Amino acid sequence: EKGGWPSFMDKEIHEDPQAVAETLMGRFDLQGHITLDELHVSVEELKSVDKIIVVACGTASYAGLVAKYAIEHWVRIPVEVELAHEFRYRDPILTPRTLVIAISQSGETMDTLMAIRHAREQGSKVLALCNTQGSSIPRESDAVLYTHAGPEVAVASTKAFVAQITAAYLVGLYLAQVKNVMFADEIQEVLRSLRQMPQKIQWVLDNDVDVVKKTAHKLVDSKAFLFLGRHVGYPVALEGALKLKEIAYTFTEGFAAGELKHGPIALVDEGTPVVVIVPSARNRNVLHSKVISNIEEVKARGAYTITVAEEGDPDAEKYADTVFYRPACPTLMSPLVDVVPLQLFSMYMAEAKGNDVDKPRNLAKSVTVE
Ligand code: F6R
Repeated sequence: EKGGWPSFMDKEIHEDPQAVAETLMGRFDLQGHITLDELHVSVEELKSVDKIIVVACGTASYAGLVAKYAIEHWVRIPVEVELAHEFRYRDPILTPRTLVIAISQSGETMDTLMAIRHAREQGSKVLALCNTQGSSIPRESDAVLYTHAGPEVAVASTKAFVAQITAAYLVGLYLAQVKNVMFADEIQEVLRSLRQMPQKIQWVLDNDVDVVKKTAHKLVDSKAFLFLGRHVGYPVALEGALKLKEIAYTFTEGFAAGELKHGPIALVDEGTPVVVIVPSARNRNVLHSKVISNIEEVKARGAYTITVAEEGDPDAEKYADTVFYRPACPTLMSPLVDVVPLQLFSMYMAEAKGNDVDKPRNLAKSVTVE
């Protein structure tokens, strides 16, 4: 079943391009008009939505955090992202105009299921983004948009993550369309970028494997890692850190790069590996220069720096001991490519340590208990 791959995880990372392509397929036309007929919520209901709360756990919650940046930018309504187990046991503000989006690969995560039950009892509508047909979460939701990543066998989630971001982006653009807050040609432009992403992910798979593997082998004895990013690079840093904890069993901290001087920089010592997600170098905007100075800061304190950066970005090379390159793409699209070398990195690290890549200790593929 592994089709010649050494592990399901390896196979599934290489299916990232397809997961994005299949999730996009058939959901919009060439004029940029999105049709999510399968959603079964009326346009009227969607028009009235004035707040979104994403509930999810683990990797799925990081996909939600990526989507927050995009949806708030496109639709101009507040998007909160909350861990399902935290959401459930406080007293969240839910109204009939709140759209709760539950993101779940398995569709069986008990924490997420309890959260959506609670949301519906309070009168909010629930939309599930799910990878498993007929599972509990979509069954108990008002609407569902399936991610088409195909079955994910490895415990660590990879292709489902890129598919979740893709599906959440489609929902955001669809909301922008029905609420009439974006011009049709703007939506079309974003869809055009999205359609190019499978090819760009493939570029990373074709070009980065060797350097990622070499770096993993080099750092195999490191006791702890830091991952940092800003804007959409922040959830990518969290996801990269989670992957490394899960399968390489390495203490890893992911955080927003701006937090560095508020505490975490004290952890940086001679040789501490720090992975930094560098935003698009186009126009050299503030976001980019802020991240570059963060790299400088950790480098000055002896860090071993790995940057995930755009091909040909001279600043990202300057203070980096190693660069994992990605092809140029718009900022909001970059998580779809940036996560790929981090998935590979954790896999090679786990392999180098002799761990079972597909079945990490203490973890189950779906967490069906609260
Ligand atoms: C990480 C991972 C977990 C899941 C989380 C939610 O690699 O697999 O963090 O993302 O348990 O699972 P689903 O998406 O099935 O609800």
